Amino acid sequence: MKVTFQPQNRTVEFDPATLPYSEHGKPLSILDIALHFGIHLEHACGGNCACTTCHVIVRDGEKNLSEMEDDEADKLDLAPGLTLHSRLGCQCVATGDVVVEIPGWNRNYVSEGGGSMNLGDAIPAARIGTVLE
Ligand code: FES
Repeated sequence: MKVTFQPQNRTVEFDPATLPYSEHGKPLSILDIALHFGIHLEHACGGNCACTTCHVIVRDGEKNLSEMEDDEADKLDLAPGLTLHSRLGCQCVATGDVVVEIPGWNRNYVSEGGGSMNLGDAIPAARIGTVLE
């Protein structure tokens, strides 16, 4: 399975059967996958569908995500920049290849050093799965 994160254009590839669950949102949620591979996605409520900071916009493969449940839909209504393709990263579970965009206000910016942080080599090697460029 492959998940691509925009605008960084980082694709991670893994076997969903063996990807460890790190308890960030639902198992195999976009949030859990992102954090496993060192891709920053805000998650102020810890993946409990109680905030909107894990908001992502699905750019491709929407059919490869779990159906939206009512509590996700209710919370998403409050998300800034809501689109027809918005999901909460902690609630949508990937079942196949997906491309998601992390909206600008959710990206990992550092105020020190001037500018956005590109995690690049700072990301530890994934234990399972591959980060493709
Ligand atoms: S992390 Fe709070 S709703 Fe997803």
